[in-house]
Amino acid sequence: MIASAPGKIILFGEHAVVYSRHALVSAINLRCRVEVKKSDGFRIISPLGVTTLDFKVHPYVSYSIKRFCELKEIKGAEIRIESDIPIASGLGSSSAVTVATIKAMNEEFNIGLSEEDVFEMARKVEIDVQGRGSGIDPFISTFGGSWIFPKRKKVDLCLDLFVLKLWERSTKEMVEKVALLRQKYGEIVERIFDAIDCITLRASECRIEEFDELIKMNQSLLRALGVSSQQIDELVARLEKEGFIVKITGAGGGGCLYGVFTGKKPQGSFLVRTNAEGVKIEDS
Ligand code: MEV
Repeated sequence: MIASAPGKIILFGEHAVVYSRHALVSAINLRCRVEVKKSDGFRIISPLGVTTLDFKVHPYVSYSIKRFCELKEIKGAEIRIESDIPIASGLGSSSAVTVATIKAMNEEFNIGLSEEDVFEMARKVEIDVQGRGSGIDPFISTFGGSWIFPKRKKVDLCLDLFVLKLWERSTKEMVEKVALLRQKYGEIVERIFDAIDCITLRASECRIEEFDELIKMNQSLLRALGVSSQQIDELVARLEKEGFIVKITGAGGGGCLYGVFTGKKPQGSFLVRTNAEGVKIEDS
């Protein structure tokens, strides 16, 4: 059985959403495909290597199977993964592989999980691996479209965005970094989250002509949270001189920058379209 799930782009609100503020998120037209076949024993085949259950090389897939086996004991499965989504870049590759694995396992072993069950299981897997998380990534990979999260308000947001990939980094480390800042400067950091929340709610009215200003403000606040870096700040400033307004999307510290595409894009960037379909079964 083959299932595919989309990557995502957080337009506004990353990090603040971990502390119950809103984020505006959309599924993008890059997908991860996972094929599951019943087998004796477990084998995971991906661009990262071929392993059995391996919580270091394939943490998200291995925890997905572990969680799945709590529902139904199975002898094994061969799991084959291919993905268009760059890994460790803030575009939701981990959640896409998790959600697609659970969906394909569900179909192959005929368990009857609903989309809501798939989301709940993927959310547990995110916590298993990262220790902390808002659930926004598994949510959007499961349901697709564009949403204000965690309110679950659907928005109509069909946009072309340019994305500039920087270097890989760990979401877990960036989320921990913000948690430490919050421990030290509780009141200040809560106000930064509140300001990000206001930006997200304003953006959710979908007046696209305001996006560049809101992107600038959100980027400054991410910098205040310590998830930008000197190199990123310099790049943001250089792009601004060239006429491109960008912000980090996802956990930061590297990952990706995005901006609204209006006919030209920065050198080295690629285009994505928002509002993609959520997890689905593919014809084999
Ligand atoms: C990661 O895609 C987004 C963060 O806000 C973490 C989370 O919400 O779980 C940084």
